Amino acid sequence: MKEVDLVIRGGKVVSPDRIVEASVAIAAGEIVALGHDDLMPPARETFQADGLYLLPGAIDSHVHFRDPGYPHKETWKSGSAAAACGGVTTVFEMPNTNPPTGTVEALRIKQRAAESSYVDYGIHGLLGDDTIDRLEELLEAGVTSFKAFVGNTFGNLPAPTDGALLEGFEKLAPLGIRTVVHAENSSIMARRQLRMEAAGRIDALAHLASRPAVCEIEAIGRVLALAEWTGARVHIAHHSSRDSLFLLREAKRRGVDVTVETCPQYLLLNTGDMTRLGGILRLNPPIREAHHNQPLWDALVEGVIDMIATDHAPHTPEEKSRANIWECDCGFPGVETQMPLMLTEINRGRASLMDYVRWSAANPAKAWGLYGKKGVIAVGAHADIAIVDLEREGVLSEGKLHSISKISPWNGRVVKGYPLHTLVRGRFVVRDGRLVEEAAGWGRSVKDVQRMPDPAPRNMETYMSNILATPAGVPPTATPRREAA
Ligand code: DOR
Ligand code: ZN
Repeated sequence: MKEVDLVIRGGKVVSPDRIVEASVAIAAGEIVALGHDDLMPPARETFQADGLYLLPGAIDSHVHFRDPGYPHKETWKSGSAAAACGGVTTVFEMPNTNPPTGTVEALRIKQRAAESSYVDYGIHGLLGDDTIDRLEELLEAGVTSFKAFVGNTFGNLPAPTDGALLEGFEKLAPLGIRTVVHAENSSIMARRQLRMEAAGRIDALAHLASRPAVCEIEAIGRVLALAEWTGARVHIAHHSSRDSLFLLREAKRRGVDVTVETCPQYLLLNTGDMTRLGGILRLNPPIREAHHNQPLWDALVEGVIDMIATDHAPHTPEEKSRANIWECDCGFPGVETQMPLMLTEINRGRASLMDYVRWSAANPAKAWGLYGKKGVIAVGAHADIAIVDLEREGVLSEGKLHSISKISPWNGRVVKGYPLHTLVRGRFVVRDGRLVEEAAGWGRSVKDVQRMPDPAPRNMETYMSNILATPAGVPPTATPRREAA
């Protein structure tokens, strides 16, 4: 048998449907054998993973690495180091940089910045009124997907008009390309915020009051209507509210190709934490009341929410700690803390480790056309692996984050379950909990391995039959029932 680069032995390999004790052989960055240790080829290096779990590296669909434009908040090098240390092997990076990723020129600047990445990456291009005519050339130049800031947030990129969004979806639907949507209603939020400010509200909860759940309900409803009409693939970013879940459940039932992410902060934090932490926890959509937490978990388990992302959105401590809530920048770093936070919940029995890899790796890989190469530990896949100690306990400390932004609402949180070693395409980028500095620049774009499946043909007829369709087995009524006069 030909000698391979590395065999990892003694660990338990986790996939969405099983956990098996198996050795993993890696050559040229790919998994070439998986199974009983006796069957492994000779290897230049062996790594003992006794007592540890091998998870497919997490794929974070939503990070802001701020580069170009805001290197004092984050760079590709620091952000991707944080990812690697958090067991994340692929990130998808957001276009609200400066310049925004809405022209090929801006994309080239970002691609150069990304050359320092420790982990693999996709780049979301900007879908806005003035980029509609450039979508194809942006795809050609390397974006994997698009992002529409339907809700206003950091960077103040204008929300696309409904007309532009429809046109964008019409263009992207036949290409099978998925668009991430920040789904909040900008005009409701702008008016509410002005009223709050006029009333002298500067407290943390005023932020939530300016962005009530109806902003998310309305925007998701609108986006789903446009997606269903056009057949475009969409992805709802940072889903935060229980009240819009019914729209997603219903759209999925009708066959709309919508994927949904939520983030640890929406599952685990609520207004009590907002009062305690103030601007540190200001983000968009806002942290909501406690009654949203459990329904979001339930929706993950049910499959209405597909995946965990982080909305890693770093700012400096000074930008996060101003007395007036409206002056605190929105967001905080999250890519490094997602895995220990979620593994802690798995340890508490809130879901299984198999559920977790479905949410952290398999489903994101499927959404972005990477499954098979990424998101799974299997022969032929990239050897993107997080080696995890489920028993390791610790306390999250913002000072130890690899992000430039050393301020986190998770500071001081007790966790159980840590990624100790991270491999990206067979190379250790983190070993024994320590970043392998020389691996900066190892990350590369996933564009080459991205294969979006062909889109289902859609037209007005299928849209109408979907709208008229009724739940399982009950044929739609031909004539609408009228109330007796
Ligand atoms: O809080 C947020 N911050 N939400 C977003 O959607 C964007 C992000 C940022 O870029 O800072
Ligand atoms: Zn974001």
